[in-house]
Amino acid sequence: MIPAMPTTRNYALIPAAGSGSRMGSVLPKQYLPLLGKPMIHHTLAVFCSHPGISRVYVVLDPDDTDWERHDCGAFDDKLEVLRCGGATRAATVKNGLAAMAGKAHERDWVLVHDAARPCLTHAMLDHLLAELRDDEVGGLLAVPVADTLKREGADGRVDHTEPRSGLWRAQTPQMFRYDLLRRALQADGAAASTDEAQAVESLGHAPRLVMGDGHNLKVTYQEDLVIAELLLSKAEKK
Ligand code: CTP
Ligand code: MG
Repeated sequence: MIPAMPTTRNYALIPAAGSGSRMGSVLPKQYLPLLGKPMIHHTLAVFCSHPGISRVYVVLDPDDTDWERHDCGAFDDKLEVLRCGGATRAATVKNGLAAMAGKAHERDWVLVHDAARPCLTHAMLDHLLAELRDDEVGGLLAVPVADTLKREGADGRVDHTEPRSGLWRAQTPQMFRYDLLRRALQADGAAASTDEAQAVESLGHAPRLVMGDGHNLKVTYQEDLVIAELLLSKAEKK
Protein backbone atom coordinates (compact mmCIF):
# COMPACT_ATOMS: atom_id res chain seq x y z
CA MET A 1 0.00 0.00 0.00
CA ILE A 2 1.30 3.47 -0.86
CA PRO A 3 1.52 5.54 2.35
CA ALA A 4 -0.76 8.58 2.35
CA MET A 5 1.05 11.87 1.72
CA PRO A 6 1.07 13.91 4.93
CA THR A 7 -1.09 17.01 4.69
CA THR A 8 0.89 20.21 4.23
CA ARG A 9 -0.15 22.75 6.80
CA ASN A 10 0.05 26.54 6.74
CA TYR A 11 1.44 28.22 9.83
CA ALA A 12 1.66 31.93 10.54
CA LEU A 13 4.70 33.35 12.32
CA ILE A 14 4.31 36.95 13.47
CA PRO A 15 7.48 38.77 14.55
CA ALA A 16 6.39 41.31 17.17
CA ALA A 17 9.54 41.95 19.16
CA GLY A 18 10.50 45.34 17.71
CA SER A 19 10.56 48.62 19.62
CA GLY A 20 9.18 50.85 16.86
CA SER A 21 12.03 53.38 17.11
CA ARG A 22 10.94 55.31 14.00
CA MET A 23 7.46 55.75 15.46
CA GLY A 24 8.97 57.60 18.42
CA SER A 25 6.39 56.47 20.98
CA VAL A 26 7.18 54.92 24.37
CA LEU A 27 4.76 52.07 23.75
CA PRO A 28 6.12 49.67 21.08
CA LYS A 29 4.13 50.42 17.93
CA GLN A 30 2.50 46.98 17.72
CA TYR A 31 0.51 47.92 20.84
CA LEU A 32 -0.60 51.38 19.67
CA PRO A 33 -4.39 51.60 19.37
CA LEU A 34 -6.18 51.44 16.01
CA LEU A 35 -9.97 51.67 16.20
CA GLY A 36 -9.73 51.03 19.95
CA LYS A 37 -7.70 47.81 19.71
CA PRO A 38 -3.93 47.32 19.72
CA MET A 39 -2.43 47.06 16.25
CA ILE A 40 -1.29 43.50 16.92
CA HIS A 41 -4.87 42.46 17.68
CA HIS A 42 -5.93 43.37 14.11
CA THR A 43 -2.95 41.50 12.65
CA LEU A 44 -3.55 38.34 14.65
CA ALA A 45 -7.30 38.42 13.92
CA VAL A 46 -6.67 38.08 10.16
CA PHE A 47 -4.70 34.84 10.60
CA CYS A 48 -6.65 33.37 13.52
CA SER A 49 -9.96 33.75 11.65
CA HIS A 50 -8.64 32.28 8.37
CA PRO A 51 -9.65 28.63 7.88
CA GLY A 52 -6.51 27.85 5.86
CA ILE A 53 -4.14 28.71 8.72
CA SER A 54 -3.59 25.86 11.20
CA ARG A 55 -1.77 27.72 13.93
CA VAL A 56 -0.45 31.20 14.62
CA TYR A 57 2.82 31.83 16.46
CA VAL A 58 3.51 35.33 17.73
CA VAL A 59 7.08 36.08 18.77
CA LEU A 60 7.50 38.68 21.53
CA ASP A 61 10.51 40.26 23.17
CA PRO A 62 11.39 38.18 26.28
CA ASP A 63 11.02 41.38 28.37
CA ASP A 64 7.68 42.40 26.84
CA THR A 65 5.36 43.70 29.58
CA ASP A 66 2.61 44.99 27.28
CA TRP A 67 1.19 41.73 25.89
CA GLU A 68 -0.51 40.78 29.18
CA ARG A 69 -2.27 44.14 29.31
CA HIS A 70 -4.29 43.32 26.22
CA ASP A 71 -6.90 40.65 26.03
CA CYS A 72 -6.12 38.31 23.12
CA GLY A 73 -8.15 35.48 24.68
CA ALA A 74 -10.40 35.41 21.61
CA PHE A 75 -7.53 33.77 19.70
CA ASP A 76 -6.70 31.09 22.29
CA ASP A 77 -7.57 28.05 20.19
CA LYS A 78 -5.11 28.96 17.40
CA LEU A 79 -2.57 31.26 18.97
CA GLU A 80 0.72 30.34 20.62
CA VAL A 81 2.86 33.00 22.29
CA LEU A 82 6.65 32.61 22.02
CA ARG A 83 8.81 34.89 24.15
CA CYS A 84 12.04 34.48 22.21
CA GLY A 85 12.38 37.66 20.12
CA GLY A 86 15.90 38.66 19.08
CA ALA A 87 17.88 41.83 18.41
CA THR A 88 16.88 41.98 14.73
CA ARG A 89 13.78 40.95 12.84
CA ALA A 90 15.73 38.07 11.26
CA ALA A 91 16.87 36.88 14.71
CA THR A 92 13.28 37.00 15.98
CA VAL A 93 12.06 34.90 13.04
CA LYS A 94 14.97 32.48 13.40
CA ASN A 95 14.21 31.98 17.11
CA GLY A 96 10.51 31.54 16.37
CA LEU A 97 11.27 28.86 13.78
CA ALA A 98 13.49 27.04 16.29
CA ALA A 99 10.64 27.07 18.81
CA MET A 100 8.34 25.51 16.18
CA ALA A 101 10.62 22.47 15.83
CA GLY A 102 8.70 19.27 16.41
CA LYS A 103 5.43 21.03 15.55
CA ALA A 104 6.02 22.03 11.93
CA HIS A 105 7.12 19.46 9.37
CA GLU A 106 9.77 20.07 6.71
CA ARG A 107 7.33 20.80 3.89
CA ASP A 108 4.77 22.77 5.88
CA TRP A 109 4.40 26.38 4.81
CA VAL A 110 5.34 29.18 7.16
CA LEU A 111 3.82 32.59 6.44
CA VAL A 112 5.94 35.23 8.15
CA HIS A 113 4.01 38.46 8.59
CA ASP A 114 4.94 41.73 10.33
CA ALA A 115 2.85 42.55 13.39
CA ALA A 116 3.08 46.10 12.01
CA ARG A 117 0.98 45.25 8.89
CA PRO A 118 -2.51 45.20 10.39
CA CYS A 119 -4.40 45.96 7.14
CA LEU A 120 -3.82 42.57 5.50
CA THR A 121 -7.12 41.02 4.39
CA HIS A 122 -8.36 37.47 3.82
CA ALA A 123 -8.52 38.24 0.10
CA MET A 124 -4.79 39.09 0.00
CA LEU A 125 -3.99 35.98 2.02
CA ASP A 126 -6.15 33.77 -0.22
CA HIS A 127 -4.34 35.13 -3.29
CA LEU A 128 -0.89 34.37 -1.82
CA LEU A 129 -1.89 30.86 -0.69
CA ALA A 130 -3.41 30.02 -4.07
CA GLU A 131 -0.44 31.35 -6.08
CA LEU A 132 2.23 29.55 -4.07
CA ARG A 133 0.52 26.32 -3.05
CA ASP A 134 2.42 24.20 -5.59
CA ASP A 135 5.56 26.33 -5.81
CA GLU A 136 8.86 24.66 -4.99
CA VAL A 137 10.49 27.75 -3.48
CA GLY A 138 7.72 30.00 -2.16
CA GLY A 139 7.52 33.76 -2.36
CA LEU A 140 6.05 36.98 -1.08
CA LEU A 141 3.44 39.64 -1.59
CA ALA A 142 4.97 42.69 -3.28
CA VAL A 143 3.89 45.72 -5.30
CA PRO A 144 5.66 47.38 -8.25
CA VAL A 145 7.37 50.67 -7.38
CA ALA A 146 5.19 53.57 -8.49
CA ASP A 147 7.30 56.63 -7.64
CA THR A 148 10.25 57.97 -9.60
CA LEU A 149 13.41 57.08 -7.70
CA LYS A 150 16.24 59.57 -7.06
CA ARG A 151 19.79 58.64 -6.02
CA GLU A 152 21.13 61.20 -3.55
CA GLY A 153 24.40 62.89 -4.38
CA ALA A 154 26.33 65.60 -2.51
CA ASP A 155 24.65 68.41 -0.53
CA GLY A 156 21.19 66.87 -0.67
CA ARG A 157 21.09 67.15 -4.46
CA VAL A 158 20.05 64.53 -6.94
CA ASP A 159 22.94 62.56 -8.41
CA HIS A 160 20.77 60.72 -10.92
CA THR A 161 17.38 59.12 -11.46
CA GLU A 162 17.22 55.36 -10.94
CA PRO A 163 15.20 53.35 -13.46
CA ARG A 164 12.24 51.92 -11.56
CA SER A 165 11.29 49.35 -14.16
CA GLY A 166 11.30 45.85 -12.67
CA LEU A 167 11.55 47.11 -9.07
CA TRP A 168 9.07 45.89 -6.47
CA ARG A 169 8.43 46.78 -2.84
CA ALA A 170 8.50 43.66 -0.69
CA GLN A 171 5.62 43.18 1.72
CA THR A 172 4.59 40.33 3.97
CA PRO A 173 3.37 37.60 4.32
CA GLN A 174 6.47 35.87 2.99
CA MET A 175 5.66 32.22 2.49
CA PHE A 176 8.32 29.51 2.51
CA ARG A 177 8.56 25.87 3.51
CA TYR A 178 9.64 25.35 7.11
CA ASP A 179 12.83 23.47 6.29
CA LEU A 180 14.07 25.90 3.61
CA LEU A 181 13.32 28.93 5.76
CA ARG A 182 15.12 27.50 8.78
CA ARG A 183 18.18 26.65 6.71
CA ALA A 184 18.16 30.09 5.08
CA LEU A 185 18.05 31.92 8.40
CA GLN A 186 20.65 29.66 9.94
CA ALA A 187 22.98 30.51 7.04
CA ASP A 188 22.30 34.23 7.64
CA GLY A 189 24.89 34.30 10.44
CA ALA A 190 24.65 38.01 11.27
CA ALA A 191 20.83 37.85 11.18
CA ALA A 192 21.05 40.84 8.87
CA SER A 193 18.48 39.96 6.19
CA THR A 194 15.65 42.47 6.33
CA ASP A 195 13.16 39.94 5.02
CA GLU A 196 12.89 36.15 4.68
CA ALA A 197 13.13 36.31 0.89
CA GLN A 198 16.60 37.84 1.12
CA ALA A 199 17.81 34.93 3.28
CA VAL A 200 16.27 32.43 0.83
CA GLU A 201 17.86 34.29 -2.13
CA SER A 202 21.25 33.93 -0.41
CA LEU A 203 20.88 30.15 -0.73
CA GLY A 204 20.54 30.61 -4.50
CA HIS A 205 16.75 30.35 -4.80
CA ALA A 206 14.44 32.78 -6.60
CA PRO A 207 11.29 33.52 -4.55
CA ARG A 208 8.10 34.30 -6.53
CA LEU A 209 6.77 37.86 -6.54
CA VAL A 210 3.02 37.71 -5.97
CA MET A 211 1.07 40.88 -6.74
CA GLY A 212 0.03 42.46 -3.46
CA ASP A 213 -2.00 45.54 -2.60
CA GLY A 214 -0.80 48.97 -1.48
CA HIS A 215 -3.33 48.80 1.36
CA ASN A 216 -1.14 46.20 3.07
CA LEU A 217 1.04 48.99 4.42
CA LYS A 218 3.64 48.67 7.14
CA VAL A 219 2.97 51.11 9.95
CA THR A 220 6.34 52.79 10.51
CA TYR A 221 5.78 56.51 11.17
CA GLN A 222 3.12 58.47 13.05
CA GLU A 223 1.37 59.46 9.82
CA ASP A 224 0.87 55.78 8.91
CA LEU A 225 -1.42 55.35 11.93
CA VAL A 226 -4.04 57.64 10.38
CA ILE A 227 -3.98 55.75 7.08
CA ALA A 228 -4.10 52.33 8.78
CA GLU A 229 -7.10 53.36 10.86
CA LEU A 230 -8.93 54.60 7.75
CA LEU A 231 -8.24 51.34 5.90
CA LEU A 232 -9.34 49.23 8.86
CA SER A 233 -12.57 51.18 9.31
CA LYS A 234 -13.31 50.79 5.59
CA ALA A 235 -12.76 47.02 5.88
CA GLU A 236 -14.98 46.81 8.99
CA LYS A 237 -17.87 48.49 7.15
CA LYS A 238 -17.80 45.88 4.36
N1 CTP B 1 10.60 42.96 14.74
C1 CTP B 1 10.91 41.90 15.60
N2 CTP B 1 12.12 41.84 16.23
C2 CTP B 1 13.03 42.83 16.05
C3 CTP B 1 12.74 43.92 15.18
C4 CTP B 1 11.51 43.95 14.54
O1 CTP B 1 10.08 41.01 15.77
N3 CTP B 1 14.18 42.78 16.72
C5 CTP B 1 9.26 43.01 14.13
C6 CTP B 1 8.49 44.27 14.49
O2 CTP B 1 7.84 44.11 15.76
C7 CTP B 1 7.53 44.41 13.33
C8 CTP B 1 8.28 43.74 12.16
O3 CTP B 1 9.38 43.03 12.73
O4 CTP B 1 6.33 43.73 13.52
C9 CTP B 1 8.73 44.75 11.12
O5 CTP B 1 9.76 45.56 11.67
P1 CTP B 1 9.73 47.14 11.75
O6 CTP B 1 8.55 47.71 11.04
O7 CTP B 1 11.09 47.64 11.39
O8 CTP B 1 9.44 47.38 13.32
P2 CTP B 1 10.42 47.93 14.42
O9 CTP B 1 11.77 47.32 14.25
O10 CTP B 1 9.73 47.74 15.72
O11 CTP B 1 10.46 49.49 14.09
P3 CTP B 1 11.77 50.42 13.89
O12 CTP B 1 12.59 49.78 12.80
O13 CTP B 1 11.22 51.75 13.54
O14 CTP B 1 12.49 50.41 15.22
MG1 MG C 1 12.92 47.65 12.46
